[in-house]
Amino acid sequence: MYHLSLQGAATLSDIYIGAGVFEQAAKRVAEKFKPTRIHVVTDSNVAPLYLDRLCAEFSLNITTTVLPAGEQYKTLDTVAGIYADLSAAGLTRSDLVIALGGGVVGDITGFAAATYLRGISLCQIPTTLLAQVDSSVGGKTGVDLPQGKNLVGAFYQPELVLIDTDILSTLPRRIFCDGMAEVIKYGCISNPAILELTAQPDFRGNLEQIVYECVRIKRDVVQQDERDTGLRMILNFGHTIGHAAEKAGHFTELSHGQAVAIGMVQAAKLGAALGEADLSGQIASLCQAHDLPTELPYPAEDIYAALLRDKKRTADAINFILVHPLGKAVIHKIPLEQLHQLLAAQ
Ligand code: GLY
Repeated sequence: MYHLSLQGAATLSDIYIGAGVFEQAAKRVAEKFKPTRIHVVTDSNVAPLYLDRLCAEFSLNITTTVLPAGEQYKTLDTVAGIYADLSAAGLTRSDLVIALGGGVVGDITGFAAATYLRGISLCQIPTTLLAQVDSSVGGKTGVDLPQGKNLVGAFYQPELVLIDTDILSTLPRRIFCDGMAEVIKYGCISNPAILELTAQPDFRGNLEQIVYECVRIKRDVVQQDERDTGLRMILNFGHTIGHAAEKAGHFTELSHGQAVAIGMVQAAKLGAALGEADLSGQIASLCQAHDLPTELPYPAEDIYAALLRDKKRTADAINFILVHPLGKAVIHKIPLEQLHQLLAAQ
């Protein structure tokens, strides 16, 4: 088992990673908090598998919210429902909210915890690979608006993150592979040894180490730029074109991991067009080994239109994350007109 600490501006996050961490939840909570009440938020996919197991660990009476599963429920209405449940359960600022689930549950619950009573302690227990290596760590919380994804949110660090890698063995392959896109991202931006590990036929035997290394990279980046004003943007390698592709597919045709895989390969092609060594074939092979797509299924014009609404856009350019060499990310400002031409030429 691994332990990492993430020191944010206001909060120290303790992160435990390894097989069997789930069974230690009550012990880890007791080390860190003195709640009178605990409220667990999960969804209809995760609840039948893990909710009773989690509640049985605690001697406290636990109250719960079970959300319908799916990104379409990542809304302010859902958050209002969680507020109602927290209020009905009588939670105070000395109590604890636990997010048990994948990225959607983590993001919504984190946002509810950040805002209910102006902030109530939060523990994340991520149950997908994507949430384990990325969204449960670092304090980004939020919901979607009809106008776009993650447009309302808050930076709010969970004080405790419990990452049980045993949970990954029961994930459907499609969900597991989705998270592999983020794992490959960490290898590309910071540590190619991750890519070597994931290329082994028996890499699942090394998952604890792989997840740890991804989370360690994220911890190091977030500690230097918690508010996402500079370095943290490197965690968005593959996400600029990826988000644009998700949007072009109306957020239903591509999963997040699939879109990130496509985005990483297309970003590598852009890097090559800008004169860097062409890493696109190598990154594409890594993605394909985990059943991830690598070609853009939408016209360049649709992607460019979606890119214009990217959060990393300034008036006349986009901060684009490029990788060169493998293991080193750079933030490259690309003028919009040049980006338009490069996309059209790909
Ligand atoms: N998922 C990217 C970040 O947390 O900044």
